[in-house]
Amino acid sequence: MTDPAPRTFRVASIPGDGVGREVVDAGRVVLDEALRLHGASAVEWTELPWGSAYYGETGRMMPTDGLEVLQDFDAIYFGAVGWPGVPDHVSLWGLRLAICQGFDQWANVRPVRFHPGVTSPLRKADTTELDWVVVRENSEGEYAGLGGRNLSARTGGEVAVQTSLFTEVGCERIMRFAFDLARTRDRKTLTSVTKSNAQQYGMVLWDEVFARVAADYPDVETESVLVDAMAARFVLRPETLSVVVASNLNADILSDLGSALAGSLGLAASANLNPERRYPSMFEPVHGSAPDIAGQGMANPVGAVASGALMLDHLGLPAAADAVRAAIDAVTAAGVLTRDLGGAATTEDVTAALVAALREAATSEHLEKADVVPQH
Ligand code: NAI
Ligand code: MG
Repeated sequence: MTDPAPRTFRVASIPGDGVGREVVDAGRVVLDEALRLHGASAVEWTELPWGSAYYGETGRMMPTDGLEVLQDFDAIYFGAVGWPGVPDHVSLWGLRLAICQGFDQWANVRPVRFHPGVTSPLRKADTTELDWVVVRENSEGEYAGLGGRNLSARTGGEVAVQTSLFTEVGCERIMRFAFDLARTRDRKTLTSVTKSNAQQYGMVLWDEVFARVAADYPDVETESVLVDAMAARFVLRPETLSVVVASNLNADILSDLGSALAGSLGLAASANLNPERRYPSMFEPVHGSAPDIAGQGMANPVGAVASGALMLDHLGLPAAADAVRAAIDAVTAAGVLTRDLGGAATTEDVTAALVAALREAATSEHLEKADVVPQH
């Protein structure tokens, strides 16, 4: 299968810090190969050297006109930020959150996928088909950045206020997005994660908007679950999940849990979408810069590669995207696994295996097509 309407897409790559650099390099190789094999579209990459090293030189995580620079790209392919020596809230707000919020990337899609050949800590995973998606509200909630410090002059008596922001518009748009996604899946179920028993303003608004929007989707089954119960549910009854919609913080935590259940944080992919396409969307693995293993060539590139597949979906190249996902499954099934998954493969080994799997699948697809040509 090939994708229609060949085009050259302009993508900004921001490897950032630590293993972000290693996995973005790997992802680019795999995506280029998938595009070469499926249709005539291509990506023209522009690498931007922003991150903690850039901060060391300039005192900023990205230039003051960073968003203007990014605005003209079709998408952003991101690694990770954060490095010892730069406070994490400075690196995160200075780059990743600055882009997500500046470009109104309000929907963060985080599929939880289980791969053949990867051992899950869940016993159930061996015998049950598991596959769900966490949809994270990505523009407000607990990460709205509202609050203040130093409200007390007394030493040792400092006060900090960190306020969550929930708007009806913000809740409604992420919920409609999640309902639309639920409609495309075999199991048309949407679970809303709440904490309205304890958080009686923001989360009660969240619940009310969910109930109102649900009325427009009678074909989608719905439920509302408290976040603490949801954590247990991820472990105990994950087969009941299809699409899970949650606020910024709740979904952040739950999606890390989901990826750990799938076998490793290094597997998890994510898309930060501006669904209106007024701004470029950003695709990045869920994991961070992993300073403990950075520079050793042992980072798992699968999360970054799978994020690249989400980018291809977004660019309208589903054949190449599906080919990348199939290659990931072929490689894990063959036991080519990095250390986080109990294997001994390097980042480079996995990358080479992914490229080989793409070629092999394309060749057999080609042969299959040749088979159906009538013989005279
Ligand atoms: P982390 O995700 O970097 O690492 C957590 C654990 O997972 C570590 O043991 C690490 O070795 C392992 N791990 C992560 N990615 C892996 C991969 N691709 N392959 C194999 N193992 C992998 O989270 P941590 O340690 O809490 O944070 C480290 C830095 O990353 C901090 O500065 C933090 O602020 C930043 N960070 C950035 C994110 C982003 O840019 N989106 C997200 C999360 C953290
Ligand atoms: Mg996280």
